[in-house]
Parts: sequence; C-alpha cells; structure tokens
Amino acid sequence: MSYRKKDKFIINGGNKLYGTIKVQTSKNATLPIMSASLLTTESVKINSCPDILDVQNMIKILKKLGAKVERIGDDYVINNSQIDDICLDYNLCKTMRSSIFLLGSILARFKTMSLTMPGGCKIGERPIDIHIDAFKRLGVKVVELDDFIFFNAEHAKANKIKLKIPSVGATENIVQFASTLKGKTTIYNAAREPEVVDLCNFLIKMGANIKGAGTNKITIFGVDRLKGVEYRPIPDRIVLGTLLIATAICGGVIQINNAILNQNEKLIDILLRMGCQINIKNDIITISRETPLKSIKSVSTGYFPDFPTDLQSLMLTLSCIVKGKTQINEKIFENRFLIVDELKKMGAKIQIIDNHTAIVEGVHKLSANKIKALDLRGGASLVLAGLAAEGRTIIENVHFIDRGYCHLESMLASLGADIKRI
Ligand code: EPZ
Repeated sequence: MSYRKKDKFIINGGNKLYGTIKVQTSKNATLPIMSASLLTTESVKINSCPDILDVQNMIKILKKLGAKVERIGDDYVINNSQIDDICLDYNLCKTMRSSIFLLGSILARFKTMSLTMPGGCKIGERPIDIHIDAFKRLGVKVVELDDFIFFNAEHAKANKIKLKIPSVGATENIVQFASTLKGKTTIYNAAREPEVVDLCNFLIKMGANIKGAGTNKITIFGVDRLKGVEYRPIPDRIVLGTLLIATAICGGVIQINNAILNQNEKLIDILLRMGCQINIKNDIITISRETPLKSIKSVSTGYFPDFPTDLQSLMLTLSCIVKGKTQINEKIFENRFLIVDELKKMGAKIQIIDNHTAIVEGVHKLSANKIKALDLRGGASLVLAGLAAEGRTIIENVHFIDRGYCHLESMLASLGADIKRI
C-alpha cells in the first residue's frame, strides 16, 4: 500500500474500539536485521516485514549500495554479494536515524565508510558519540570533517567496551561489527531492548557466537563467516502498546493475538492501576475499559525494561482525558514533548516544566481541531487524541506516522474507529 507526502487523516471522534487484531512486525527489529544482511554474501530472507516508510527507505539504501532485493508480499529476499559502492546517499541518510545501523555491518564487510550525520525525528539532536567511541575502542580510525565522518576498520581488534549509556543503536552496531571480528568483544552496559535480542538471535542463526543478549553484558566471539538465513522479526511492542492505550482512551474491548508479554509489563501495570481490565493468555492479550479511568501520579521513561520512551507521547495523550494530575518524566530524549502545543489546540491542559518534565491536568473532553504531526510517535498520539475528541479532527503530515505504523488508520478503522486517510 502506498503513502503520499500530503496525506491527512480525518477522524470523527467518540467511537469505542471493539475487535481482534494482530500487530505488525517490529520496525526497530526489522531495520537492524536488514542492515545485518550485509554481513553475508549469501541470500537472506526476512519475513513479514512491516510495509512502512522507514523499511522502504532502508531497502532503497541497500539497493543504492548494490543489493539485489526481491519482494514477495511482505517478505524480502536480500542478496548483497554484488555490493561495491559504500558511500551512502547523502539524502537517504538524512531521511532517517536507522541508517546509522549500517555502520557496523558495512565496516565489518568493507572496512571503510563515510557517513553524514544521520537524520531522524526532531525528538533530540540524536548524537552518535557513543557509536564513535565504541568503534575507536575497537581500533577503528575515525575522522570527523564538517558534516561527514570517515571510518577505517583495516586494523580493528576485539576489545572490551563500556557504553556510557545503554544505547540501542550503538549496541546493535557493535554486535554487527564484532560478529566477524577475530577474538572476544565484550559490551558492558549494553542495551537490553527486545529488538537488540532479536538482532542477536538473527546473527546467531547466521552462525555468529553471541552470549548475553538481553542482559547488560554481551560477549561476541568473532567467526570467519556468516551464512544466509530465513528469519521473521518479532512483533512491534510499540504498536501493541499504542493499541492498548487507544483502547484505554476510547473505551471498548480489543484482543491482540500476537503479543510477547514480557515486553510491555510496565505499560500493562500502569493501565491496570488506571482501571483497565487486562487478560493475558499465552500470546493473546485482551484489554477492556468500560468505566472512567483513574489518573496515576507520574510516568517516567527509561531504558528497557523501564517504561519505553516511544510510548511517552501516547501516555501524555491518555493523561489529557483522565481526571486528575499526571507528571510525565521523559528521561531519554531532550525534546520529546513536541505534540504539547497541538494537544493544547484540542483543549488539553499541559504545563511544560522543562524539556524532560510535563504536568498534565486531565479534562473531561478534548475538542476536535486541525492539527499536525511533528514526529512519529507524537503523530500516533495525536490520532488517539482525535479518536477521543468530540467532533471532526484533521491531522496533517501523517507521513511521520507512516514511518513506523503500517496504515495506522486501517488498524484503528478495523476496530471501529471513524478514521480515513485523504
Ligand atoms: C532506538 O533509537 C529506537 N530507534 C528509538 O525509536 C528509541 O526511542 C530509542 O532506541 C530508545 O529506545 C530504532 O531502533 C530505529 P539510543 P536510538 O541510542 O538507537 C543518546 C521510534 O520511535 N545517545 O538508545 O537512536 C540519545 O540522544 C524511535 O521508533 C547519545 O547521546 O536510541 C538518546 O538520548 C525513536 N549518543 C539516548 O542516548 C549516542 O551516540 C538513547 O538513544 C547515541 C545515543
């Protein structure tokens, strides 16, 4: 299904959500796994990929590098045996943060690379100092010149690395790079996100020797070569969380059939405390909200398994329509309250204390308005605000939402929401 730059959503709020749904495959697992396909000259088949802009852009970058990509429905067969050009296209790098994940696999394969400072959402300046420090620890030569950074891994050596923060992208880059680097590389203070574990499982299936994925200490014993495999990345826990919060906001009962439960425990705990009913049986999660919710005092984002920063905007929207005061503490990014002004146009009462703290005073009803998405998860939160608002909301710039949600309007319409893309 195609996306157009000027697309908008039209929402008539007030409907409750009912029905059963499966969530799409994880964007943040699929992207580094696609990058890791560069580590072998054999074909890799990645199944059930989400049809979203970031995946489409990643495929464009791989093709620009010389990859042969065959698409069969939502499955991609990627063959990188012919790749020679490794200067990433300037514009494509600018379109998304995930291009940074290519650093580890390209350096492992081609030993040199030049990279523009990666683009991405406007949720923070998104530095890559932790990636650069880690590569320097592994003997990679790094030269920064204006907007470009040049890497040379000719004399790389396995080593111990301690990350100053458990960066997801930096962990994923080092794991990719060290998988075929002779010797033992150890990452201390590694990211524990499920998407990091999924990348490691993919690499292990290719023949990598990785221990400790999902803990804060990952050890990689480099192997000579990795083979082509077939793999299905995990479901998207952020899309799942979005649907749970949508039900909390709209009311109703929905069932999600492909949940992996230890990935959303903090959110489930919060929604239960607010008064939702949640039933969990194997990989099926049923949530219902029939009575008005109670507010919780505060929500703080953190590194996994703490509450995910990617659901912070959605919690902000939920707090807008629940009686009482909620303090939102965004501890990961420094500019992730972009949607506050848009929510205020709908009657929300939010006070920004500083760029990590917001206080929300719940109102009885939000009112419809014409608003615009400014980043990926903030855009999804505005959709949920529209579902709850009285009247007809128009949301512009939905291409931000299309970066990470596979036709969010279709998902919600299938559950009874009155939402259309125009
Ligand atoms: C990944 O981004 C995700 N993106 C983000 O999801 C997610 O919000 C983030 O992890 C945190 O969970 C993908 O997986 C494609 P980080 P990443 O490196 O790797 C700072 C979404 O909505 N930092 O863990 O870029 C950084 O500024 C996106 O799907 C440095 O200071 O996140 C941030 O404050 C948004 N220096 C914090 O660390 C560095 O070199 C966490 O960043 C790298 C990061």
